[in-house]
Amino acid sequence: MPTTEQTLIDLSRQLLDAIDAGDWKTYTDLCDESLTAFEPEAEGHLVEGMPFHKYYFDLPAAQTPRQSSISSPHVRLVGDVAIVCYTRLTQKLDAGGAPVTAALNETRVWRRDGDAWKHIHFHRSPA
Ligand code: GLY
Repeated sequence: MPTTEQTLIDLSRQLLDAIDAGDWKTYTDLCDESLTAFEPEAEGHLVEGMPFHKYYFDLPAAQTPRQSSISSPHVRLVGDVAIVCYTRLTQKLDAGGAPVTAALNETRVWRRDGDAWKHIHFHRSPA
């Protein structure tokens, strides 16, 4: 049986896989609808709820493969809340077809919801 810490890392990986695959159903299954976020796409503003994120899932599927890895994860449990921090390494192809890697630091906050965990907040910034 995985530890709670491993479960939270696995959930965070599922979330990143859903983002890379444009899988809105899995993404919304993992997130609380009141999700809050600071991310570069929001230009320094706090965004609340799912519509801001849906915009990106609704874009035409990328023609090039993309995958994200979780590097140096750290999990902190505070009662029914978990704080997961890591560096996200995203591999993709640039406009010329050469492979490039983007490194971003992410903090993802999860709240226990019965037997499950729901993603309630994240903050992403350049590594
Ligand atoms: N932009 C969606 C996410 O990183 O969760």
